Amino acid sequence: CRVRHYQFNVVMKNTTRLCSTKSIVTVNGKFPGPTIYAREDDTVLIRVINRVKYNVSIHWHGVRQLRTGWADGPAYITQCPIQPGHSYVYNFTITGQRGTLLWHAHILWLRATVHGALVILPKLGVPYPFPKPDHEPVVVLGEWWKSDTEAVINQALKSGLAPNVSDSHTINGHPGPISNCPTTGGYSLTVSPGKTYMLRLINAALNEELFFKIAGHKLTVVEVDATYVKPFQTDTILIAPGQTTNVIVTTNQNAGKYMVAVSPFMDTPVVAVDNTTATATLHYSGTLSNSPTFFTSPPPQNATPVANSFLNSLRSLNSRKYPARVPQTVDHSLFFAVGLGAHVFNVKGVFTADFPGNPPIPFNYTGTPKGGLGTNTGTKVYRLEYNATVQVVLQDTGIIAPENHPVHLHGFNFFAVGRGLGNFNPKTDPKNFNLVDPVERNTIGVPSGGWVAIRFRADNPGVWFMHCHLEVHTTWGLKMAFLVDNGKGPNESILPPPKDLPKC
Ligand code: C2O
Repeated sequence: CRVRHYQFNVVMKNTTRLCSTKSIVTVNGKFPGPTIYAREDDTVLIRVINRVKYNVSIHWHGVRQLRTGWADGPAYITQCPIQPGHSYVYNFTITGQRGTLLWHAHILWLRATVHGALVILPKLGVPYPFPKPDHEPVVVLGEWWKSDTEAVINQALKSGLAPNVSDSHTINGHPGPISNCPTTGGYSLTVSPGKTYMLRLINAALNEELFFKIAGHKLTVVEVDATYVKPFQTDTILIAPGQTTNVIVTTNQNAGKYMVAVSPFMDTPVVAVDNTTATATLHYSGTLSNSPTFFTSPPPQNATPVANSFLNSLRSLNSRKYPARVPQTVDHSLFFAVGLGAHVFNVKGVFTADFPGNPPIPFNYTGTPKGGLGTNTGTKVYRLEYNATVQVVLQDTGIIAPENHPVHLHGFNFFAVGRGLGNFNPKTDPKNFNLVDPVERNTIGVPSGGWVAIRFRADNPGVWFMHCHLEVHTTWGLKMAFLVDNGKGPNESILPPPKDLPKC
C-alpha cells in the first residue's frame, strides 16, 4: 500500500453552460472536480486550500473512515469548516473497500459544483469478481443552475417551498445538445467496437434521483456504492444522489453514435420539477461525424415499476471471498418517520442519551401526524455502544415530497434487509427480511409512502451523520447523528484529532 497525495485548491472559476457564464466554486478550476484514485489499503492525504470567500468542507462519501472521523467532512458534525485563506489535510486510510465512490463539499449547497469521483481499485494482484473490463470511464451526473448557487440556497432557506429548480441535468459536467441552448456541447465517450467498458456512474446531483440509459446497449450491473452485487442485466439504471453504480457495457453494436440519456424519477410527478433530459453520446470510433445518433427515450418521470424492478434486482454478491456480513441479531431497533425531527450540530458537552423516542408503529403515514411528530431541531444524538448491531426502519410519511428520500449514513455501510409500501408492520414485515444477501450500500431510497429497513454494526467510533441526500431536505432538517462510543480494545477508539483540524 501507498500514500497518495492530492492538492485541492478551492477556487472560483468562470464556467459557461446553457449559453450563459457564471463564476462557480470549483476544485482546481474543474467542474466536475478531479478524480481521486487509490487502492484498497492506501492512505490518502488531500490538502484542501480554501481560496474562496465561503467556508468549505469536503466529504469522502462512502469512505468508512475507520477511527478517522476527523476526516469525514460534514461541517459542524465532525469538523468546523475550513475558513477562507485556511487549509486542512484530510488524512485517511481506505480499509476493506474498493469500488466507485464520490467526494463533495459538505456545507450548505456548495456541492452543486464542488464534487468529483473517488475510485478505489482493488489491492494489487486482486482481480474483480468478474472479467476485467477493457476500460473504466468515470461518468458523473449532476445538475446545473443558471442562477448562482447562493441564490438557489437562499430560496430554499427562505421559502420553505420547492427550491429553484435546476435548469438542466449534466453528464460529466455537460447538459448535452438537447436543451434550451441548442449549441451547447455534450459529453462524448469514444469507444472501440468489441470491447467492454465499465462505467463508474455517480449521481452527484443535489436533488434528483435519476434514470440512466444508453440506446441499443444492455447494462450489466456489477457494483453499487463500492460493494459487489450479483451481476444482472438491465436497460435502465436508477441512481439516487450520493449513490454510485458500476455497469459494464459491451460495444457489440454496429459503428454509430448512441444516445446516453439521463432523466429524473419521481413517484408522483410534480409540474414544478426539473424534467429536462441530459444527453451524452457513446461514439464508436470510425463513425462518420455526420451520421445520425441512435435515439433512446428515458422512462417517464413516474416510472415506478421500472424503478422497482431495478431495485428488486440488487443483491449482495455474497461469495466466499466477499461474504455479506448481515447482522443476524439486533441490539438497537429504531423506527424513524422521515420528516420527524432529527438533529444537528455537534457542540461540545451537549451529547445526551435522551434522543427523541420512536413514534408509534404502525405509523399513520397518511395525513399530517398528530402529537408533536413534526420536525424538531436540537443537539441530541442517538448513542450506540461500540459494536452494537442496529436496525433502523425508515418510514416515509408521504407528507414531504413526491420523491424517494435517499438516506445516507456516514461511517458505515448498511444492509437493506427489507422494503415495502404502506405502513411498516413490526409483526409481519420482519418475517420477510432478507438476512442472506441483501444489497449493501451507504445510501438508500426510502420509497414515497413506504419504508425500508437497514441493518449495520456500529464498529466505528465517532459521530456519524445520517441525512437525506436531497440537499434541500438536509437544509430543511431531514438529518440526525449517531454517536458511537469507543470500544475497550486496543484498536477500537477514535484516533486523536489532527493538529490542523479547523476551529470555529
Ligand atoms: Cu454525500 Cu453527508 O453526504
